[in-house]
Amino acid sequence: MKKTVIALFIVPGFLIFSLSLLSFPANAQEASKALTSLPDSVNKIVIASCTPCHTNEGGLMSKSKLNFTEWTSYSPEKQKEKAAKMYSELNKGAMPPKAAREKSPGLIPTKEQIDIIKKWSESFPSDNK
Ligand code: HEC
Repeated sequence: MKKTVIALFIVPGFLIFSLSLLSFPANAQEASKALTSLPDSVNKIVIASCTPCHTNEGGLMSKSKLNFTEWTSYSPEKQKEKAAKMYSELNKGAMPPKAAREKSPGLIPTKEQIDIIKKWSESFPSDNK
């Protein structure tokens, strides 16, 4: 009798419990994995200045144009194009947008950081078209 109780409740309960444990770290991994294809130096700048808007958690407008959660699924051509756009926006002082710069000046990348993005954006292999 006791064994049946164990088999009926404890075993499925344990299975459900371990499955829930498994699925949480999987989600966390998914989130951090998104940025790992960026070099560390770039990743740091993006996390400090861009991810509030340009991830799945960000605004519709910003994430539809540039979404770091999906960066790894961008084609190499798209990554190259977006990297070049990132630098040109930063070079113009257009990103983060004006309202965000005024509200949170801490988001504004420094000259050195913009230089890092520039070098990185130029490091993509040129396509042989
Ligand atoms: C406060 C929110 C916010 C932050 C922070 C922000 N952006 Fe944006 N970004 C937007 C919005 C909204 C758009 C779309 C509207 C537009 O193009 O002006 C956009 C558009 C862009 C585009 C244009 C993409 C395309 O293909 O046209 C680039 C590139 C970009 N952002 C880069 C960056 C980078 C790099 C950072 C960090 C240094 C950054 N953004 C930080 C809100 C933000």
